[in-house]
Amino acid sequence: MDRPTLFDFHGVSMIKQFTDSWEEVQNFKARPDDIVIVSYPKSGTTWVCYIMDLLFFGKTCPERLTSIPLHERVPFLEISRTSPTSEYVQKGRDLLDQLTTTPHLIKTHLPVQFLPKSFWEQNSTIVYVARNAKDTAVSYYHFCRMNYCMPEPADWSTFLQNFEEGKVSYGSWYDHVSGWWEKKQSYSKLHYMFYEDLSEDTGREMDQLCSFLGLSLSAEDKENVLTRVKFDNMKTNKMSNFSTIHHMDQTVSPFMRKNDSVSLGKVGDWKNLFTVSQNEKFDEDYKQKLKNPTLHFH
Ligand code: PPS
Repeated sequence: MDRPTLFDFHGVSMIKQFTDSWEEVQNFKARPDDIVIVSYPKSGTTWVCYIMDLLFFGKTCPERLTSIPLHERVPFLEISRTSPTSEYVQKGRDLLDQLTTTPHLIKTHLPVQFLPKSFWEQNSTIVYVARNAKDTAVSYYHFCRMNYCMPEPADWSTFLQNFEEGKVSYGSWYDHVSGWWEKKQSYSKLHYMFYEDLSEDTGREMDQLCSFLGLSLSAEDKENVLTRVKFDNMKTNKMSNFSTIHHMDQTVSPFMRKNDSVSLGKVGDWKNLFTVSQNEKFDEDYKQKLKNPTLHFH
């Protein structure tokens, strides 16, 4: 099966699937109550999308939890293409037009300079989620192995080299996390979250998210959301584990990879793949590339 290839797109490595509808995406007219969930790929986007979907609609529209896959409830703004398999991937823009609930929750992986200007004009609410570079790289590597719409990752050491150089779809992790971090300093409607914090204490992070969004939750509703968004529950839930997407071969690597007690928490899984020398080189490179002294990862 033909895999897509990367190309330089205004200084960022991209694949056609995410740039084919560029005009349409850039001319997107945001509604004042739209909420954007942004991340570099493999940073916990699905987790945050599910939490937010439950916070807004878990009680009022419980039927959608069992009948509509999460990726249709929270459309992926820039996704555009039919997959290389016969399955048709609906355009994010079309899915957005079909949404019957408000506010619209919109997923994107766009770096800050690519976000359609209408979101800024509308002063839209933005939730950004970041994950430490090493676990992101490992998760991304396995994702490229199992998702036939992504470029062929080659072997781990080649992929890691490409990741460090930003030669993966959506470009440099360093630019992405810092670009959005810097935006947060001047744009007050941006809530910046970390995967590791969510993993450490999902309840605490959810409280902070609710306070940012102006939502209040009863103790019972909070417990309900916390149960649903547990790793094991999301992994077995067909509406959140991407098992309905046929171009992802979950026998190669599941979308949600870890479920054994040793790796519960899913922070630090990179230690299973990085060699000592890869780690040393990565740390050296990291110091050069992540320059912002106020942005700290666990
Ligand atoms: S994507 O394809 O870019 O939208 O992927 P994304 O959702 O950003 O990231 C997928 C990784 O997030 C993990 N994940 C979770 N971890 C802990 N708890 C929960 N509930 C959870 N939901 C998703 C998922 O397992 C992927 O990480 P890895 O390390 O590959 O397992």
